[in-house]
Amino acid sequence: MEKRILEKLTSVWAGRELYCYDETGSTNDDVKKLLEDGARHGVLVLADAQTAGKGRRGRSWVAEPGQTIAMSLGIRPDFSVEKASMLTLVMALAVREAILHVTGLSCEIKWPNDIVYEGKKLCGILTQLCLDKDGAYSVIIGVGINVNVKVFPQEISDIATSLYLEKQQETDRASLVAECMKQFEAYYARFVLKEDLSELQKEYNDCLVNLDTKVKVLDPAGEYDGVARGIDESGQLLVETADGIKAVYAGEVSVRGVYGYV
Ligand code: BTN
Repeated sequence: MEKRILEKLTSVWAGRELYCYDETGSTNDDVKKLLEDGARHGVLVLADAQTAGKGRRGRSWVAEPGQTIAMSLGIRPDFSVEKASMLTLVMALAVREAILHVTGLSCEIKWPNDIVYEGKKLCGILTQLCLDKDGAYSVIIGVGINVNVKVFPQEISDIATSLYLEKQQETDRASLVAECMKQFEAYYARFVLKEDLSELQKEYNDCLVNLDTKVKVLDPAGEYDGVARGIDESGQLLVETADGIKAVYAGEVSVRGVYGYV
């Protein structure tokens, strides 16, 4: 896999330090360790199987060995740490675009960072911060894409899908990884111009599955309903409620459709 990815890689820095494992606990944990040991900006870890894959909000991420892309990218940003969570949305745009280039499927984004196709989840992203002893920080962006999965466990089959199930053909994982790195680099360059999402806001909102739909905001401080009106330049979801517009910060909050996943 490593050789095949390197052959296809056209990015300058993303994925240029590359590690591919048959099995690991979590690629996010691997990148954290590598960053602590001095790995370079853009270090990428891929695994065919994870025994302790992590999802958002403390959930686990289960993936069939060899059928998915489980990868984590390590970033050493120059901008301030409060902006780091926006990289999640930058990666969502990059993965969406990469899927479009490699498979022709035009997906949508469920705020903040799920890639969905016809209402079903194809990809999840988990971003974590790594604080160094010297006050610097780095960011780990973990991406799980359901690529060649043929069948999902019954309990998630109505909310999960794969590129294989949508295209009825296998997708070359190495090509998709290389395209994700190329696209991430391009979106990242546009993000750092203003150090916020103002350059990407329109594009993001154009493919936002929640736009102008009723959503339930699952805030640990209390759930509420509203209508999603798109993201602002810092990636917060603007939700119109009876009490006015509320800006929802991703952190521990999640949104659902009022009647289901989207
Ligand atoms: C979610 O939707 O809950 C986020 C899922 C993120 C899964 C990926 S798989 C590669 C990386 N390593 C992990 O342990 N998690 C992320």
